[in-house]
Amino acid sequence: MPDTKQNPGVTTISDQRATITAASPADAAIPGRRRTHRAQATVHRLFAKSRAVRRLTVGTLAQVELAILGGHKQPGPMKLIRKVRSERESLLSGNEAFMIYSLARTQRAVGGIMAEVGVFQGCSAKLISLGARPDELHLFDTFEGLPDPDHAERKSMRRGHYAASLEAVRAYLSDQPNLHFHKGMFTGENVSCADRKFSLVHLDVDLKEGTLSCLKFFYPRMLPGGVIVSHDYSYLAGVREAFDEFLADKPERAVELPTSQAMLIKG
Ligand SMILES: C[S@@+](CC[C@H](N)C(=O)[O-])C[C@H]1O[C@@H](n2cnc3c(N)ncnc32)[C@H](O)[C@@H]1O
Repeated sequence: MPDTKQNPGVTTISDQRATITAASPADAAIPGRRRTHRAQATVHRLFAKSRAVRRLTVGTLAQVELAILGGHKQPGPMKLIRKVRSERESLLSGNEAFMIYSLARTQRAVGGIMAEVGVFQGCSAKLISLGARPDELHLFDTFEGLPDPDHAERKSMRRGHYAASLEAVRAYLSDQPNLHFHKGMFTGENVSCADRKFSLVHLDVDLKEGTLSCLKFFYPRMLPGGVIVSHDYSYLAGVREAFDEFLADKPERAVELPTSQAMLIKG
């Protein structure tokens, strides 16, 4: 995690094939790091386009990770996570699914309510619901897929990627209590639960603008000890930029996890 106070802003490196964003000027000087960022953009483009690629890559990785976790974690939660992971398509690896479930279980003790922005088919939402049994879980999604990516993001994502119907997700999650669905693009405007405090927020919106809107809305509404966890911080330059820019004048820093996730613990 770069110290954005020492390195204000981020460094963007453009070339013919991809716009890649390094986390710090030091990143830009490392050719291996540049190759990694370019490879990540290519991989994400393939993911977003093809369900078969996702099944082959993320699906296989998830199975391997869950098998490894099964060697040392409690069997009950592992069985549950494996079941949920198999019920619907998800972009979560096994370790990421475990992290979300585990955070949900822990953050229940903080009080407040929970939210997710970026629901897709409902897999991560179900893990939060099962892990925490929160008093309220607010689920935000366009349910029409990604909104317009910005210029750089268009290289790996398109409007409409990851579309899932609200009716199908509602039916899938019908056995879960206390869910509140919000259909539409999340901008932080006119949010019905704006007067509430949150203990856990899961962000999985892929794009910089959406991630920034979420951080601006949820950060002041997090309880002390509340956690905002985001998917794709390590894969998607826009998500990383949103966190780094947003946190530049805040006391907290994003904790990058061994998965693609990062989390911020509200002080
Ligand atoms: C990668 S998918 C989420 C995957 C899901 N969390 C899972 O575990 O399977 C990204 C989702 O974010 C939604 N999305 C992206 N930007 C959004 C925004 N600004 N407002 C609402 N939904 C958004 C898309 O519709 C899509 O369903």
